[in-house]
Amino acid sequence: MIVKDIIDRLKQKGTLPIEEFLVLLSNFSQEDLEYICSISQKIAEENFGRNIYIRGLIEISNYCKNDCLYCGIRASNKNSSRYRLSKEQIISSCEIGYSLGFRTFVMQGGEDPRQTDDFIVELIQEIRKRYSDVAITLSLGEKPEVSYRRFFEAGANRYLLRHETSSISHYSRLHPEKMSLSNRLECLRNLKKIGFQTGTGIMVGSPYQTNEDILGDIRFIEELKPQMIGLGPFLPHKDTPFREFAAGNLEKTLLLLAIFRIMHPKALIPSTTALATLHPEGRLRGILAGCNVVMPNLSPTENRSKYSLYNDKAALGAESAEGLLLLQKQLDQIDYKISYERGDFEG
Ligand code: 5AD
Repeated sequence: MIVKDIIDRLKQKGTLPIEEFLVLLSNFSQEDLEYICSISQKIAEENFGRNIYIRGLIEISNYCKNDCLYCGIRASNKNSSRYRLSKEQIISSCEIGYSLGFRTFVMQGGEDPRQTDDFIVELIQEIRKRYSDVAITLSLGEKPEVSYRRFFEAGANRYLLRHETSSISHYSRLHPEKMSLSNRLECLRNLKKIGFQTGTGIMVGSPYQTNEDILGDIRFIEELKPQMIGLGPFLPHKDTPFREFAAGNLEKTLLLLAIFRIMHPKALIPSTTALATLHPEGRLRGILAGCNVVMPNLSPTENRSKYSLYNDKAALGAESAEGLLLLQKQLDQIDYKISYERGDFEG
């Protein structure tokens, strides 16, 4: 089978049979990657123009009760210096963000047991009261359906929860026994049911991941039809059991971004911080593969280095909210521009 023909079929049909996906994932060349990106970029351009939505990322707590083996803020990492932002600190980040032009705030955090639902609800209400025109996105992990419902009713619009892997056996190698894939998938279904614009995704090249696992993720996402798809390379963190594993591969990440763009033309797909951390041109190459979102860091500067999911996480320059001019300069190189629209999913 010729990879280029497979790519053409993906473009025509918006999907592929298993065997063809496997050939594509395992046999693509540099040339094939360029070819698929030329297609996926065009699809993004047809749907969004050469515009990149921005989301202000506020990392509200790095306390986490979970112990995911890949993650730098896992509970058993005693070297992590923990912080929890106050409501005032978060609102002040929003104020800065709003004046810089952000119209989406993403509140992300570990599963912090001391951050109550009441706190989150009050926070959402306060942001909503101040800024009627912003989208409020949450990324706070697995919660009971009632909590999600309260957040939605308080005015949150979107929720990001990567499934990380759709394979039960792979899931169990990345997570401690008490976490379960079925619970995570249940959360995703609940979020969609409640009416959140829902995002999911994976790390590319996480330890023990096979192409068959990735294929499962492609199928899972095909069925779930999330409004947002988040996909970045795995990057090792020095204080985790996965410290010695290699980082995910740049080309494989770009290939998958291109595949997802072709399969989900209208999805919101960020060119992730992990991709920008992996390679100096990662951010731009993600956009050239069909991404249409970036999420600059809007956390208080003194906390940024503490929200360390993986080594050397980029949070400065074009990766930061203050660096929007720099980001625009980078985008100029590929003739793209920042969009200051709220950028909801339009299906
Ligand atoms: N490398 C890359 N991505 C990571 N994440 C967590 N730890 C790492 C790591 N070591 C991702 C997970 C999570 C998201 C917030 O960050 O996919 O869902």
